[in-house]
Amino acid sequence: MSRLVIVSNRVGPLKDTGKAGGLAVALVDVLRETGGLWFGWSGEVTEAGTFSELKRERRGNVELATIDVSPADNDEFYAGYANRTLWPMLHYRLDVAEFSPLFEAGYHRVNERFAARLRPLVGESDRIWVHDYHFLPLGARLRELGVSGPIGFFLHIPWPPTEILSALPRHRDLVRAMLAYDLIGLQTERDRRHFVDYLREEAGGHELPDGRWEAWGHTVRVEAFPIGIDTEGYRGFVATPEARREIQRLDRHLRGRAQIVGVDRIDYSKGIPHRFRAFERLLEDQPELRGRVSLLQISPPSRGEVFAYAEIRRELEHLAGSVNGRYADIDWTPIRFMTRGFPRRALAGIYARSRVGLVTSLRDGMNLVAKEYVAAQEPEDPGVLVLSRFAGAAEAMSEAMIVNPYAADETAAALQAALQMPLDERRARHGALYARLVQADARWWANAFLDRLAA
Ligand code: G6P
Repeated sequence: MSRLVIVSNRVGPLKDTGKAGGLAVALVDVLRETGGLWFGWSGEVTEAGTFSELKRERRGNVELATIDVSPADNDEFYAGYANRTLWPMLHYRLDVAEFSPLFEAGYHRVNERFAARLRPLVGESDRIWVHDYHFLPLGARLRELGVSGPIGFFLHIPWPPTEILSALPRHRDLVRAMLAYDLIGLQTERDRRHFVDYLREEAGGHELPDGRWEAWGHTVRVEAFPIGIDTEGYRGFVATPEARREIQRLDRHLRGRAQIVGVDRIDYSKGIPHRFRAFERLLEDQPELRGRVSLLQISPPSRGEVFAYAEIRRELEHLAGSVNGRYADIDWTPIRFMTRGFPRRALAGIYARSRVGLVTSLRDGMNLVAKEYVAAQEPEDPGVLVLSRFAGAAEAMSEAMIVNPYAADETAAALQAALQMPLDERRARHGALYARLVQADARWWANAFLDRLAA
């Protein structure tokens, strides 16, 4: 068996710190299964940067190999091109995207440096699997360095329509570099369609009889692989002492009142202000719910060095304060807005005690919170997932209550319906959702991708 080499910007942590984003969490689950090497950023910013010594760490069958980035790399590659240009672009947010030749040069420089540092670690027969928007051109750089084995790429975030992507300066060069991969995996059918539309419209590409795509003299396979979670493993978290502790704390605090829960990194793509407004709308329209239902929003801060992130955080603090000021009572706080993370096991307990899981992304690659919320529910008496149609997860979670987060009244109505939903309907919806999560779990996702890459 050839060894699996995974590359992503965030690596680990293999310990549950409560700080990891969706990608790192999913890859931890996969690598525990397959074993292999995981290469990426150490999380450190140092003067030596990508020339720093390689840090190696072994945990069971997983070896981590990481390097630092320099302050300039951090500004231009990570906070710059990755998170001020590509992240907003790929989330359909041209209005937030910034275009700077300095960021762009830094992005390509870091991709080149990561390829150069990875090259000596790669064996003849290894399979390489590159992840996410930080490393779109990494495969092309590895090919230039003589790597000839299979290289696959998976994008964890959305791929927008060509009309949007074509506003990115030098978008053709970026997509052309991606064609060095043998396999490009996207989260949803919609993303896949957008990608091949791009190949057809901008690269004169066409589909071959075997289903691969030919464009700009390359052939590449482009498929959707919706990412899953370790469903049964996550379900098991609910019984851990960490989860039980949160369940007891909530039982003491809620005393029979219903709780709606939202969990997201503070990010403008998550629609958190829309969520607060929908909840406010619910309280406005349904006075009998005041004092009887609350919203718990758990939001670890993220990418604080980027202005748009600092701004959305201020907006949320303001909004939560104004809703609370208007509706709170001596013994009831409508919105509990917490800007810190929780370990995954503790979160499982919080999900288990929340009547409604609320996801209002304005655009989201998949959204694993939606899946974890469902996995944590008690099958006998499950809560209800209210899910934005703009999260990739909505494509295969039709038994959730699907909402348009831009329509506060629609979301408020769905929340009310979810809070009142009879037990048999809750069970039926949850049963169907859970069964699909067990089938299309993290292992299924990784195997589907890696089997395709091997073929
Ligand atoms: C999303 C991205 C990941 C990223 C994570 C956390 O899930 O797809 O690539 O690691 O957010 O963001 P951060 O910037 O903290 O790595």
